[in-house]
Amino acid sequence: MREITKNVYWVGKVDDRKVPFHRLVLEKGTSYNAYLIKDEKTALIDTVDILFGKEFTDKMAEAMDLAALDYIVINHTEPDHSGALGSIARKAVNAKILCTAPAVYELMEMYKIGKERFQVVTNGEEISLGEKTLVFYETPYLHTEETMVTYLKEDEVLFTCDIFSTHVADKEHLLVSELPEDVSIMEDYDTYYQLIMDPHRRYVLPMIDVVKPLSLKIIAPSHGYVLDQNLPSYISVYENHALESKKDLSALILFNTMSGNTKKMARMLENELVKEGIKVEAINTEKADLDEIYTKIQKADGILFGTSTRYADIPGNLEVILKELKDLEVEGKPAAAFGSYGWSGEAVEVVEDYLRAADLRTLRSSDIIKSTGMSDIEFPLRVRFNPENSEKEIKKAAAVFIDVLRY
Ligand code: FEO
Repeated sequence: MREITKNVYWVGKVDDRKVPFHRLVLEKGTSYNAYLIKDEKTALIDTVDILFGKEFTDKMAEAMDLAALDYIVINHTEPDHSGALGSIARKAVNAKILCTAPAVYELMEMYKIGKERFQVVTNGEEISLGEKTLVFYETPYLHTEETMVTYLKEDEVLFTCDIFSTHVADKEHLLVSELPEDVSIMEDYDTYYQLIMDPHRRYVLPMIDVVKPLSLKIIAPSHGYVLDQNLPSYISVYENHALESKKDLSALILFNTMSGNTKKMARMLENELVKEGIKVEAINTEKADLDEIYTKIQKADGILFGTSTRYADIPGNLEVILKELKDLEVEGKPAAAFGSYGWSGEAVEVVEDYLRAADLRTLRSSDIIKSTGMSDIEFPLRVRFNPENSEKEIKKAAAVFIDVLRY
């Protein structure tokens, strides 16, 4: 347990293995930073990786009477942060688990904890611990949908979980200010952004809008170093990357084709996007290297998936790619399905099911009608035979996709 500011303690775990994580190996290891705040009420902010869950709970039980813990804040449900929740919630029998609404069911399922243990917090909500106050701000998709950050108002500490993190296992230093003067974490910090945050870059600027108005002395993330100096420079790394990526929007069009009509649709969509200054790559998946496709999917700002229909099914290897989506960090990314068909065109609908299952921000006619009143936009975009007869519909659909890309 290490005090980082008055009555706020680091209680995490440094993991100096080569850590497998989201199709990556973290060569420099990482840490799972959890924090304990002591006041009239006591709050634990996040936990550690599930691999170290029992060890964490045992250590916490040695350090304090867990029955006296009032709150367990879960900023983000991924098991590298919530991993000890199952064991600690069973010992900290009086603690309420504070999290966003979408986190509740995930955590209930993951750790078999009853609903009565949870207390949903909403954007801007405050909870007093006595002299100190916790304030919660939703920061969706940084890293997953349910994510929030927690602000300790009086001490001006922001607990950001994955945001502003660094994947480095440093057993000697915790605070940036403890590092030798000639050592900078910026390269590792930037690499973290590229690997973990960049696929979610469209959510970075809304998060910056939340963070910038806060008065901050410390940013306490859940991986790597605690930032206690030059905070604007760390925040501006995220802001600058996000602003840069807004200037250079990119779209990926993945398609298969039987008669050439879905390919024609792909080209027509590509032309519309290019006219609007969007960088587009259109790829026939039959000829593509799948690992390269997965990387391109992660990098693109939005993706269009085109398929023809053969015997009511998706021909070729597009379905292999669609099955991989849920492991590719694509939640919230704009996407839509399209395709030409001759008889019933079921494959386009099946593609859409995959997109929705992977939590992509999937464009659908019913959502567009509800949100804009525009009832003449078809998504998924299905065209019978030659798409040249449906040019108007394709142009309209492309325009909506571009709007969504631009947010
Ligand atoms: Fe560090 Fe999204 O987990």
